[in-house]
Amino acid sequence: MKSTLLAFAFLISPAALGEPVDAATCAACHEDVASAFARGPHGAAMARRSPKVLSSSCVRCHGDGKAHAEDPKAENVSRAPAPGACLSCHAGSGTTPLTDPAHARGQVGCLSCHASGHTAPAAAPLLRASSHELCGGCHATQRNASKLAYSHRDGSRPFDCTSCHSAHGKSRIGRLALLGNGGPCLDCHSEKAGPWVFAHPPRETGGCVSCHQPHGSTNPRLLARRAVAPLCLECHSGLPSSHNPASARYRNCISCHRAVHGSNHEPRLFED
Ligand code: HEC
Ligand code: HEC
Ligand code: HEC
Ligand code: HEC
Ligand code: HEC
Ligand code: HEC
Ligand code: HEC
Ligand code: HEC
Ligand code: HEC
Ligand code: HEC
Repeated sequence: MKSTLLAFAFLISPAALGEPVDAATCAACHEDVASAFARGPHGAAMARRSPKVLSSSCVRCHGDGKAHAEDPKAENVSRAPAPGACLSCHAGSGTTPLTDPAHARGQVGCLSCHASGHTAPAAAPLLRASSHELCGGCHATQRNASKLAYSHRDGSRPFDCTSCHSAHGKSRIGRLALLGNGGPCLDCHSEKAGPWVFAHPPRETGGCVSCHQPHGSTNPRLLARRAVAPLCLECHSGLPSSHNPASARYRNCISCHRAVHGSNHEPRLFED
């Protein structure tokens, strides 16, 4: 404990006088809380940036500490960070922490996902839980889908939600409307990237989710229908007469139309 107090004392410059209440003042009464914060990942990150950032941090989140330091009542300090507190340090272009617009509309604030740094975070970077638990806590439908017979898994562990989504609405924004060209799927399935001489329109327009269920499925290959033929027939009703629906041979569409994702050789998608 002593060493922490020393550390705080070291961080305080006399020039801080007249400035908002510094961490050392808060630490005088909240020694354990302040030292745990300073040791934690957030405090340590702030200290790396600049000791001054750390020493001014308490009031950035808890609001002007002057009244509280003089008269230390709970009502003189805000326990929950003031609106905009996080962005007062994180508005920089380097981190662009603007959240997804849907989350902003849904009032999902920084602390819905991130820990304050007073307690050890469950996952990096400063998250309340691993992304699967964190996101799945509010999005049960998608989390439950990952338990279906077919889903993206790494061994028995479901993929992190953040392998396809960006919580901060960067390139992998929200609903991933840009899936026309495959979006995040192509990071891993680059062989489906094209461009193809003979593209299959639904892949280009509706994206992978025209045919696949990204979160999990009861159907093999994460298909949106129980088998290949019903999937194809949903869009292709009037087939050439050669395609006898009674024949088992014709029911396995992709035995002939193998290049279902697109072809460079054949408009009827026979070969890759
Ligand atoms: C003189 C001692 C003293 C100082 C200095 C002090 N506090 Fe407190 N603080 C207290 C006490 C005592 C309580 C408990 C008040 C209560 O429960 O009524 C408290 C409570 C709090 C709470 C909890 C409020 C709640 O609603 O539960 C926060 C947050 C807090 N202090 C932050 C700070 C910060 C930030 C600083 C520096 C700006 C600071 N304190 C400086 C004594 C102090
Ligand atoms: C990044 C924002 C942030 C910073 C910086 C921060 N706190 Fe907090 N603090 C919180 C939040 C949020 C809570 C509510 C509990 C929680 O979520 O961990 C809290 C809770 C507290 C409490 C109540 C503790 C309890 O167990 O009830 C005290 C006291 C406190 N902070 C003091 C401080 C002091 C002193 C500093 C500076 C060393 C500081 N805080 C820096 C966000 C912050
Ligand atoms: C006093 C300034 C300050 C405030 C206020 C602040 N942060 Fe930070 N935070 C930092 C600094 C500095 C870093 C280190 C960033 C870096 O080195 O690029 C950081 C790092 C982080 C990280 C990344 C941690 C990691 O392990 O990479 C997250 C997440 C974060 N802050 C979230 C928040 C949230 C949420 C709030 C509001 C509750 C908040 N911060 C408030 C200064 C602040
Ligand atoms: C829906 C959950 C969620 C919300 C809300 C959220 N974050 Fe994040 N944040 C994450 C996740 C997950 C990461 C890890 C990077 C990733 O996978 O996108 C992250 C990363 C970060 C980082 C690390 C640097 C970076 O850009 O990668 C900072 C700093 C950060 N968040 C700050 C904030 C601030 C400030 C807010 C509020 C304006 C906020 N976050 C809101 C989930 C969230
Ligand atoms: C605290 C609850 C909460 C958490 C945690 C949360 N979300 Fe959300 N999410 C929401 C709400 C509320 C909406 C808006 C729903 C609406 O508009 O109908 C939303 C919307 C979304 C959308 C739809 C975006 C759109 O444009 O329609 C996606 C994708 C999403 N969240 C992914 C995530 C991911 C990934 C995480 C974890 C990093 C996460 N969410 C964490 C509550 C949460
Ligand atoms: C393999 C990539 C991938 C993973 C992993 C993933 N998603 Fe998605 N998610 C998508 C795609 C693609 C869409 C767009 C679906 C559409 O437009 O029909 C989407 C859409 C969503 C939506 C919007 C509502 C909807 O279903 O259209 C939410 C909410 C969401 N995902 C949450 C999550 C959560 C929570 C997790 C982790 C449990 C997760 N996602 C994991 C690819 C993924
Ligand atoms: C982070 C990497 C990654 C991302 C992103 C990703 N996948 Fe996958 N995908 C994999 C891995 C790994 C497998 C398992 C391959 C295997 O078992 O041979 C897989 C398997 C599949 C399968 C075959 C499943 C089966 O039963 O054989 C389909 C279909 C699929 N992914 C579609 C998608 C779609 C659509 C998207 C975008 C919504 C996507 N993937 C995003 C890595 C990824
Ligand atoms: C027109 C429907 C359709 C679209 C659009 C589509 N797929 Fe497929 N995909 C299929 C069918 C059908 C299969 C084969 C199923 C089988 O073998 O039983 C398949 C198989 C796969 C497989 C596993 C076998 C293999 O070929 O590697 C992956 C991975 C895959 N698709 C990824 C994607 C990705 C990524 C996208 C978007 C870029 C996408 N698919 C778009 C219909 C489609
Ligand atoms: C979401 C709708 C959709 C699904 C599902 C779909 N297709 Fe298509 N497909 C199209 C459209 C649109 C075209 C462009 C030609 C047209 O309008 O018929 C096309 C073109 C084709 C062509 C080229 C024929 C031509 O007239 O240029 C073949 C072959 C084909 N699809 C086979 C399949 C097979 C096999 C499946 C199942 C694995 C399938 N399609 C699933 C919408 C779909
Ligand atoms: C045994 C191989 C074979 C199978 C299996 C097969 N096709 Fe074909 N398909 C062809 C051939 C050959 C053509 C060229 C037109 C013809 O039949 O003369 C064709 C043409 C098409 C066309 C393009 C029609 C046009 O107007 O140009 C579509 C769409 C198509 N097939 C969809 C399907 C679907 C959907 C299935 C599964 C229900 C399927 N095919 C199964 C061989 C096959």
